[in-house]
Order: sequence, then C-alpha cells, then structure tokens
Amino acid sequence: MTNSIKNVVVVGASGNVGKEVARELIKAGFNVTIFTRQDSTATFPENATVKKVDYQSVESLASSLEGQDALVSTIATVAVGSQKALVDAAIAAKVKRFISSEFGINTRTVGDSAIGKILQGKIKVLDYIIEKSEENPWFTWNGVSSGLFFDWGLRVGSLGFNKDTKSAVIYDSGNEPVQGSNLAFIGRAVVAILSQPQKTANQYLSIASFNPSQNQILEILENETGEKWKIEHASTAEQEKIGLEKLGKGDFSAFSNLLRKHVYADGANNAVKGENSANGFLGLQDDDLATTLNEWLRT
Ligand SMILES: NC(=O)c1ccc[n+]([C@@H]2O[C@H](COP(=O)([O-])OP(=O)(O)OC[C@H]3O[C@@H](n4cnc5c(N)ncnc54)[C@H](OP(=O)(O)O)[C@@H]3O)[C@@H](O)[C@H]2O)c1
Repeated sequence: MTNSIKNVVVVGASGNVGKEVARELIKAGFNVTIFTRQDSTATFPENATVKKVDYQSVESLASSLEGQDALVSTIATVAVGSQKALVDAAIAAKVKRFISSEFGINTRTVGDSAIGKILQGKIKVLDYIIEKSEENPWFTWNGVSSGLFFDWGLRVGSLGFNKDTKSAVIYDSGNEPVQGSNLAFIGRAVVAILSQPQKTANQYLSIASFNPSQNQILEILENETGEKWKIEHASTAEQEKIGLEKLGKGDFSAFSNLLRKHVYADGANNAVKGENSANGFLGLQDDDLATTLNEWLRT
C-alpha cells in the first residue's frame, strides 16, 4: 500500500481544471510533471517538468512515467478514452495512484439513464481502472465528483447568470440545491487526496465548494449589485425533451440539456452535504458563496 506520494504527473494541465490542479500541487510542495500532446501549444508554470507524450503509445508513456508515484488525469472530455493507455502505462511503470478525469456529476450513480449513456466513456475507463486495481492491489485509484465548475461556469455563462445584462435563466422553482465547486477548490481536493494516500485509496469522492440554489445565487447577486435582475423562467422537463431528441439523432450536445434536468430539477437531490460529502473526510474548508460571486462581479 502507498506510504507517501511525492512525484505527481498531471495530464491536461493546460485545461480548465488541470491548470488549477497543477498550481495547487506545486504550491503544496509536490514534484509536478506535466504531460502534454506533441502538437500542443500550451504553456506551463516554470516550476513543473513538462514532457511531450504520445497518448497512443503505452510503451513510451510508461517510460515517461518512470519514478512517478501518482497520475492525475484532467484530460479533456473528448479524450477520456485515451486514459486506457495511460492506465496500462501507469501499471507498467508501477505508479501507485491514478485519479481519473471525472470532475463532474457522480458517474457511479447515473446508471444507464440518458445522461449516463453520454458519460459511458468516463464510466468504462473507471471500471477498467477498478478492475486493474483489484488485480494489482498496489495500484490504487480515485474519482472525484465536483458537480458544476462554479467560478468557471459564472465566467463562461454556463450557469445561466449574465452580469453584463443583469439577467438570469431560472429552471423550475429555482430552489433545488446544486453541487458546485470552484476550480482551485478541486485542486485543493486533489492535494488532500494525495497527501493522505492510505486513507483515500480506492474511493470515489464527492465534494462541493457549496450547494446553492439558483434563487440563493440570484438573491446575493441582486443584493450586491443593488438591482433587480431580469429573469427568464424555463423548465427542466423541456430541457430533457430537447436533450432526448438530440440524443436520438446522435447529437451529443444533448449533454447540456440533460445536465440541466439532472442538476436543477425540483427534487433532483444531487446536493453533496452531510455524510454524502467528502469535504470533512478530506479536511477541506468549504468556499464562501458570496465571496465567489463578488469576485466574479468585480472581474
Ligand atoms: N463539472 C463541470 O462543470 C465540468 C466542466 C468542464 C469539464 N469538466 C470535466 O473536467 C475534466 C477536464 O475538463 P477541462 O474542461 O478542464 O478540460 P479541457 O480544458 O477541455 O482540456 C484539458 C486538456 O486536455 C489535453 N488534451 C489531451 N488530448 C486532447 C484532445 N484530444 N483534445 C483536446 N484536449 C486534449 C489538453 O492539454 P494539452 O494541450 O496540454 O495536451 C487540454 O488542455 C473532464 O473530465 C471534463 O468532462 C467538468
């Protein structure tokens, strides 16, 4: 079993969450090596080692993984299938911990629902990792469910709040608590996992910076801006209908529609608190919702 983890590879460290994961690992004193594609033009922090790799070649990946204790994959959604070669290479190089590119809704509980069908790539890879870990008990794993990327979602508009037009789309009653995590919080969760390797081995962990309802977010935004925001009401039943139609045509942009149903529907019950939350287990401090919203309003 893993005693301590010092040397960590981050895959996809130029990405939305990977950037923050690498930053937090470096800050916490891990020796970070970043894997990046041969043709990537991404730039990286100076205090990390950068290796250009070929995600098709298990042999060359294994040689790049020599001496590493852990691999954290934050690879792009479109590339989650590439993780199978990374798993085989990690086992060949005796890497002791593999954190799979999950970082969203809990894929262990979606079953064969419509959204579960879209998430099959992630589900199959994690099934494969667990199978390999059972065959090789020294090879341990984690998956992290973070819910919505919260600060990122505010910035890119995917949470439905627009600070320029002071407008928002509210689904159903707007009262459903929603699992959300800021990107740096996810980075701190990865640090906490790798800092406590025995305790955290072979676990799927759900975390959340907070679990606000859309109405709670709106109330804070209206208080802070001193203005009433323009609200458009929408239904998650309609979002589900659109999502299923798209899925029937093989259009995977259905994910956003089905996700809205999954997280915002009244009674969805996906909030991560109390014993469902790994925040306490990992020793994570919750983020403050008002502070996060204020930072977004100010930038
Ligand atoms: N919860 C949420 O709201 C939410 C939102 C978005 C994503 N996610 C999940 O979080 C994880 C990471 O997503 P992300 O948005 O942070 O990733 P991203 O920014 O889309 O991509 C991460 C990195 O993956 C690398 N990569 C390797 N193969 C690639 C390929 N074929 N195409 C594109 N990039 C490739 C790239 O790094 P190099 O250029 O250095 O090779 C890229 O910068 C995924 O599992 C995703 O599903 C969750």
